[in-house]
Amino acid sequence: MPFGKITQVAHYVPNNIVTNDDLSKIMDTNDEWISSRTGIKERRISFEENTSDLSVRVAEDLLRKSGVSATELDFILVATMTPDFATPSTASLVQGRIGAVNALAFDLSAACSGFVYAYTTAEKFIQSGSQKGIVIGAEVLSKVVDWSDRATAVLFGDGAGGVLIEATEEKHLHGANLQSDGLRGLSLTADQKLPKANFQANREENPFLYMVGRDIFDFATREVPKNMKATLEKSGISADEIDFYLLHQANSRIIDVMARKMKQSIEKFPMNLQKYGNTSAATVPILLSEEVEAGRIKIGSNQKLMLTGFGGGLTWGTLVLSI
Ligand code: ACO
Repeated sequence: MPFGKITQVAHYVPNNIVTNDDLSKIMDTNDEWISSRTGIKERRISFEENTSDLSVRVAEDLLRKSGVSATELDFILVATMTPDFATPSTASLVQGRIGAVNALAFDLSAACSGFVYAYTTAEKFIQSGSQKGIVIGAEVLSKVVDWSDRATAVLFGDGAGGVLIEATEEKHLHGANLQSDGLRGLSLTADQKLPKANFQANREENPFLYMVGRDIFDFATREVPKNMKATLEKSGISADEIDFYLLHQANSRIIDVMARKMKQSIEKFPMNLQKYGNTSAATVPILLSEEVEAGRIKIGSNQKLMLTGFGGGLTWGTLVLSI
């Protein structure tokens, strides 16, 4: 049976940098609060580019760096909670713009776990005969952030990252463990402008991103390490054997807790949230791409990675893979 392997990585973030000090000029906040509570120092905010624009940049870069042509792609999956439209999907927009005429394309909505969910889906396509495909996590969260709510506005940013996956004979994805808990879904919502269905009629209308931060913090630090450990068990790989833990970049304090619970040095948990904030589905692939660019992670080296996402849905999930 064929298996999926990451053969290229890429990321793209908008040029416009917004620092904590910039935010303190438009809302009642300050660098000290944001840095000490979250680790975030600045984020990228898109002026004009939408989620599909960021995704196209990533897709084009993946093709350019790999030498693979767009017509060779069998699938394009985009994980996002901020698509350009309800339909057409962001993935369809990318497919059209890059000329990937042979690729199926669809979006996947699992908030900050989106990339991990989408990668697992891509692995299934490869196992059933697809040869090459692209998985992207992309967000323009600034579209849905309530810029009058300091409790959420300071946390999020825009960006995109992705991977090219190709079929190989050797297994590279050693374990995947995806979970969700819809009963706790209202802890993190973003309604955008979709009309309300009847069953939601009694719920307060809030088109913007809304989050009960403390609940998500508690959920992440309690549930996610259990998921990480269960994935290791499934994979037959020990925590010590993992070279790098690429976790969702929401809050450095959450990552510190995870490192302690996994009994691993914090050095194994690269972070870039200080530069980008929480870019939801984009955090894990941006981090992977930056670590490859920095030479710490090498494609084809057989290093063992853990990729973990958690957030809206609620959803959470972990992959253990060799790169
Ligand atoms: N600047 C200054 N003060 C602030 C700010 C701000 N930006 N935001 C909140 N405060 C104040 C609050 O009003 C509160 O004041 P009070 O005590 O007088 O009421 C105080 O700071 C503490 O607020 P808390 O919300 O209790 O702060 P906490 O330490 O819990 O940190 C945070 C909040 C950073 C949001 C944290 O709970 C967190 O990281 N949660 C997890 C987020 C996460 O993991 N999300 C992932 C999923 S995202 C997705 O799926 C899209």
